[in-house]
Amino acid sequence: MPIASTVHLGKNVRIYHEDQVNLYGCTVGDESRIGSFVEIQKNATIGARCKISSHSFICEEVTIEDEVFIGHGVMFTNDRFPRATNLDGMPRTEADWAVEKTLVKRRASIGSNATILSGLTVGEGALIAAGSVVTRDVPDYAIVAGVPARIIGDTHKKTASNARSGKPNRGSGN
Ligand SMILES: CC(C)(COP(=O)(O)OP(=O)(O)OC[C@H]1O[C@@H](n2cnc3c(N)ncnc32)[C@H](O)[C@@H]1OP(=O)(O)O)[C@@H](O)C(=O)NCCC(=O)NCCS
Repeated sequence: MPIASTVHLGKNVRIYHEDQVNLYGCTVGDESRIGSFVEIQKNATIGARCKISSHSFICEEVTIEDEVFIGHGVMFTNDRFPRATNLDGMPRTEADWAVEKTLVKRRASIGSNATILSGLTVGEGALIAAGSVVTRDVPDYAIVAGVPARIIGDTHKKTASNARSGKPNRGSGN
């Protein structure tokens, strides 16, 4: 079941290929767009007018505010010390760990193939470079890059100049 009955979709949400996503127990805000092969787990929240590009994984207890861009193949996490089993060898269940929440604030952008470790906040308007591994909170409007991600700039300058150029967004539809 690609889109479970437990999903709450806002108005005019666009899901490019409904048979190629896996959504369950999550909320997606008005006018957001979701590409192919995206998984959004239960108790994840996507705001309004977001773009979630193909192949991204948004796990339990991730909150994404309005107008956030998620690139292709972005991986969220919610357990910093994951284990398959408990010490007695029994498979771990939901009762055996506490999910760590992540917040992505409005108008932030996360570049393709970035990994966001759990329990973090990505600030308003911040930009995560492609391929980054984010291990610490990202301040509002910071540009961070690398493994581990470090601050390399400020989006106030970059996005202002891009907006002025009037160039269309050439990113793929999904
Ligand atoms: C972060 C980003 C915005 C920087 O762009 P920019 O301001 O034009 O930066 P520059 O190319 O001038 O690079 C500035 C420095 O950051 C480094 N850098 C840029 N992108 C980087 C990345 N993804 N990872 C690590 N370092 C990066 C450059 O090597 C350079 O370092 P140097 O000064 O030591 O040579 C851009 O590289 C990026 O990753 N954008 C996201 C693209 C994306 O994923 N889009 C979504 C799908 S289409």
